[in-house]
Amino acid sequence: MLYKNAYIENSITLSDIRVKDGKFAEIGSQLEADPGEEVVDLGGRLVLPPFIESHVHLDATLTAGDPVWNMSGTLFEGIACWEKRKPKLSKSDIRERVNKVVRMYAANGIQHIRTHVDVTDPKLMAMEAMLELREDLKDWMDIQIVAFPQDGILSFPNGKELMKKAVEMGADCVGAIPHYEFTREYSVESLNFALELAAENDRLVDVHCDEIDDEASRGLETVACRALELGLFDKVTASHTTAMHSYNNAYMLRLMRLLKLSRINFVANPLVNTHLQGRVDTYPKRRGVTRVKELTAEGLNVSFGHDDIFDPWYPMGSGSLRDVVFLGLHVTQMMGYEDIMNSYKFISTNAARTLHIQDSYGIEAGKPASFIALDAKNYYDALNRDSAVVLSVKDGRKLAEAIPAEKKVLF
Ligand code: FE2
Repeated sequence: MLYKNAYIENSITLSDIRVKDGKFAEIGSQLEADPGEEVVDLGGRLVLPPFIESHVHLDATLTAGDPVWNMSGTLFEGIACWEKRKPKLSKSDIRERVNKVVRMYAANGIQHIRTHVDVTDPKLMAMEAMLELREDLKDWMDIQIVAFPQDGILSFPNGKELMKKAVEMGADCVGAIPHYEFTREYSVESLNFALELAAENDRLVDVHCDEIDDEASRGLETVACRALELGLFDKVTASHTTAMHSYNNAYMLRLMRLLKLSRINFVANPLVNTHLQGRVDTYPKRRGVTRVKELTAEGLNVSFGHDDIFDPWYPMGSGSLRDVVFLGLHVTQMMGYEDIMNSYKFISTNAARTLHIQDSYGIEAGKPASFIALDAKNYYDALNRDSAVVLSVKDGRKLAEAIPAEKKVLF
């Protein structure tokens, strides 16, 4: 298969892409079709490596308003709504919603998802359902599963045992939630436990880390320190880190040295955290997003996630990461020309590093032939005009396509 006339990753010259046996065989200009080879004209469209959702909770998606809406928009009312939804949870309920959401993602050019699955459930029912879905959907969507202790590891009965069981069952990553543990001591112990569990079982780590406006929430320094000491480095990710927004600059200076030594990844969730954070502030109200600009400037890897899609904690979401990037750039004040042009990396290349899949990801000869095409010439235009993903190809197979909507102005 020969794909002609693509602007690959904001290039200003056109390229052609040859795909053979599910791999990129050749990338160059004006490639000639082999006898009998199928040719697709991409018509001067932008081609990117596939989008990646690096942080979502699939098991809760599509439950907003069922049975009640979160009227205040706070995290705590969200938890109360979820308690009312929980009696309806079953494997078939989870399967039905996840199947829908995965297809919403696929339509928007996403080919990889890291999902956090609540394991503070003695039956581990959601974990069991997600493991089945990971297998069922593997030809269309790569799903990574994080064992996520929503109610804590030390602060929930049998929390450690449930985490170990989830890893035994096949979770890809170990999670933690230090800011939600009962005490600072529990917070540190939970992180030591989580990172050691990952090291012993050769798993990745993704911690819900300091998702609170409390400047004294300092789980991150323990995560980074243990990532360094255990030699886990970039296998470790700190999600949210919204308390960093409120750290004093002297502490931040000291912390940054450790973060750079640790080489851990970060995930910011701009839609959900601008919505949930700052809720106890009067004015000024904090923006609730970690220091993306500063971390990026120091060479640390940051990706963006959606976090919640139409659930008790966030009432919006269509499975497109475009809005995540769009708001993320505004709220982090990364609106320079190059910032905007390169911002697709927050949901592609950087996210591949977060998921630790960078070796098999990217538009290069020899790698799996996975890419998307957008109805624009470069990402600045695509982001600004909310351009459709017109084609998504995974391992050489067409996964999704779209015909861009035509708008008619009658004057
Ligand atoms: Fe989350």
